[in-house]
This record gives sequence, C-alpha cells and structure tokens, in this order.
Amino acid sequence: MKQAVIFDLDGVITDTARYHYLAWKRLAESQGVHFDEAFNEHLKGIDRMGSLDLILASSTRVYTPAEKLALATEKNEHYKELIALMTPGDLLPGAVQALDDCGTAGLKIGLASVSRNAFTVLDRLGITDKFDYVVDARTIARGKPDPEIFLAAATALGVAPAHCFGVEDAVAGVASIKSAGMYAVGVGDPHTLRQADVVIPSLAQFRLGDYLAA
Ligand code: G6P
Ligand code: MG
Repeated sequence: MKQAVIFDLDGVITDTARYHYLAWKRLAESQGVHFDEAFNEHLKGIDRMGSLDLILASSTRVYTPAEKLALATEKNEHYKELIALMTPGDLLPGAVQALDDCGTAGLKIGLASVSRNAFTVLDRLGITDKFDYVVDARTIARGKPDPEIFLAAATALGVAPAHCFGVEDAVAGVASIKSAGMYAVGVGDPHTLRQADVVIPSLAQFRLGDYLAA
C-alpha cells in the first residue's frame, strides 16, 4: 500500500511550464536560436543551466561560463516577472482536489521540483501548507532524470521508495521516478510519457484509488 505521494510542480500543479517556455523562447531567439514547443518538451524537468546548455548547443557561438551565467540570470528575471502575478487562480484543474484526496487518505505529501523558484510559486498559489516536505533544489546535485530528487523526498518523508508514487509531466521526471523505484503517474500525452505506469490528461482525472495498491 502506498504511504506517500511526491508531486512535480511545473506543468502538473500549475502551468508554469508555459512561463518557462515563454522565457526560454525570448532568450533563445535573442541568441539567434530557433525555439519551438517541440524543443521545449526536452527542457521540461531539466534544471536551469542544463536547459541553457541544450539551447546553446544549437548556436555556432562559444559562450564563456560568465556569459552563460548572465543569460541564465536574464531568463530567470523574465520568468520571475511572469510568476510574480500568479494567484491561486493559476492552480490547474483538479490540483487542490488531488492534494486533498491524498491528505485525507493519510498519505505523506512531498514536492520534488528542480526549480529554484518552487517556494515562490507555492506561496503565490497558497498551497505551501499542503506539503509535508518540499525538496530545496539547491540541495540536489543531480537533476532529473537522475533519481536523486525523488529519493531525497522519500527519505525526508520517511517512506521507502516502493511505498511512494510520483506524479510528473516531463519525460525526464518520469524517468527520475522510475529510476527511484517508484510507481509513476504521468500527466500529459501517453505517447510522450511512455515510461509512466499510467498517464492521465490532467489532475482532473487523478484517481487515487487506482494508485494506492499498484
Ligand atoms: C522545472 C521546469 C524546468 C525548469 C526547472 C528549473 O523542472 O520543468 O523547465 O528549467 O524547473 O527552474 P528554475 O525556476 O530553477 O529556473
Ligand atoms: Mg514538470
């Protein structure tokens, strides 16, 4: 029986994936790099510097570490402007119900986002107190698809990975959950998230009873 659930944030609980897309697109195009939704799919769940490296790989220019840091900071400043206006109205359909169903069932609830803005986003959404533990991305050495972040959440919640399940919208995130030895609920397109154990279109279709004994 599952004893804990570990959620991703961006693209699962709220549509910040859209804001990351807009901020990266502006940054990429400022460097003459073409950027579209298909490319963005590879960046979901990937940390900030890792995402920048993937974008700049298409550029003919060579960037110094200082230039890369400046570009990452520029993207993040734009992203922070976008999230500053978020409200609880930006919670995706079914998100609060899913969190409350898990709480009512007595599950421990964790958040495993590699975003260094996760605490701000949770605060803007007004849902910080719904989590028993939120991983601080600054303490994670290896981002998704490495299992480290989901394992760190499980350890902090005091639940063995086999008794946890993870909820993710990103290919890298689902891979991270599976490498951690957990059951994976994918949110999005079943073709894209082939590695997940089950895929639902959004948290509005979250059915806790289907995952508890899986
Ligand atoms: C999440 C998003 C990624 C983003 C990463 C880092 O995983 O899915 O698109 O790059 O967080 O976010 P940050 O807010 O730290 O730049
Ligand atoms: Mg995500």
